[in-house]
Amino acid sequence: MQNAPYAPASVIEGVASSTAHENGKARANASPPVLRAIGLTKELPLGKVVVHALRGVDLTIFRNEMVGIVGPSGSGKSTLLGIMGGLDTPTGGTLEIDGIDVTRMNESRLTEIRNEKIGFVFQFFNLVPTLTALENVALPIQFARKPKYHPEKRAKEVLGHLGLGDRLNHRPTELSGGQQQRVAIARALANNPPLLLADEPTGNLDSQAAEIVLDTLRTVHQEFGTTIILVTHSPELANQMQRVVELVDGRVMRDHATDMR
Ligand SMILES: Nc1ncnc2c1ncn2[C@@H]1O[C@H](COP(=O)(O)OP(=O)(O)OP(=O)(O)O)[C@@H](O)[C@H]1O
Ligand SMILES: [Mg+2]
Repeated sequence: MQNAPYAPASVIEGVASSTAHENGKARANASPPVLRAIGLTKELPLGKVVVHALRGVDLTIFRNEMVGIVGPSGSGKSTLLGIMGGLDTPTGGTLEIDGIDVTRMNESRLTEIRNEKIGFVFQFFNLVPTLTALENVALPIQFARKPKYHPEKRAKEVLGHLGLGDRLNHRPTELSGGQQQRVAIARALANNPPLLLADEPTGNLDSQAAEIVLDTLRTVHQEFGTTIILVTHSPELANQMQRVVELVDGRVMRDHATDMR
C-alpha cells in the first residue's frame, strides 16, 4: 500500500475499522493535516549538561482525530505539546499547523495563529480567580484581533452546551474542580479553534469528576468537530482516545489506533 508520508497510524498499520481507514484517506486528500511535526528536537541547557527533551519526533494529526499522547514522567509529553501549540519553539525540525510552517515564524504572527487555531486545557485549570465563568470564557474572544463572536453571547452558548448554563456567574472558588475544568474547556473553545490541546486535564480530579471531564471532551469532539490531543501518563486514559502515541525518552515508540472509534 502506498501511503502519504503523513498517513495516520491507523492507515499505515491497517488496524482501524474500514470507516476510519477510508476517512483517513479522504482527509489526507481533502485538507492538510491539522498538525505535522517532522524531526522535532528540543535541547534544554541545564547547568553544564544538555537535556534532550525531544530526540526527533515525527507526528501527523488529522482533522477530527482524538489522540492520546502517553509516556512516563520526563518522556517529553509536555515539551511536545507546548511546541505543537506554539507556546514553545523546537531546537530542530519543522512544525506545520493547518498546513502553515510555523517553525521560524515571528512571535506576533505565531500568537495570532495560536489564538485562532488552538485551545489549551491545563491540569490546574488556570482560570482567572476574580472573573466569573462567563467572563473567563468571554476573555479570549475579547483578546482576539478579529473576533468572530459576541463575547458574552458566545460564552453563554458554549457554557450552556457543556452543561454549565446554571453556573455562569460563579467564580472559580465557587465551582467544583470538575466544573472548573469544564469552564476551562469552554474557554479553550471560545474562538472555535480546530485544535484542542490538553495536558493532564484530569490529573487534579477525583475519578468521578475525571469521567465527566472526559465525557465533555468526547462531546466537544463529536459536536464541535474539534481535533483533540490529550497528554497523560495514564495508559488507561490514553486508551480511551481513538489513537495513542507513546513517547519514551523523547521519541515516538509506538503509534496505534485503539478500538474507541
Ligand atoms: N526548562 C527546562 N530545563 C531543563 N530541562 C527541562 C526543562 N523542562 C523540561 N525539562 C526536561 O525535559 C524532559 C521532558 O520534560 P517534560 O516536562 O516534557 O516531560 P513530561 O513527559 O511532560 O513529564 P511529566 O509526566 O512528569 O509531566 C525531562 O527530562 C525534563 O526534566
Ligand atoms: Mg508533563
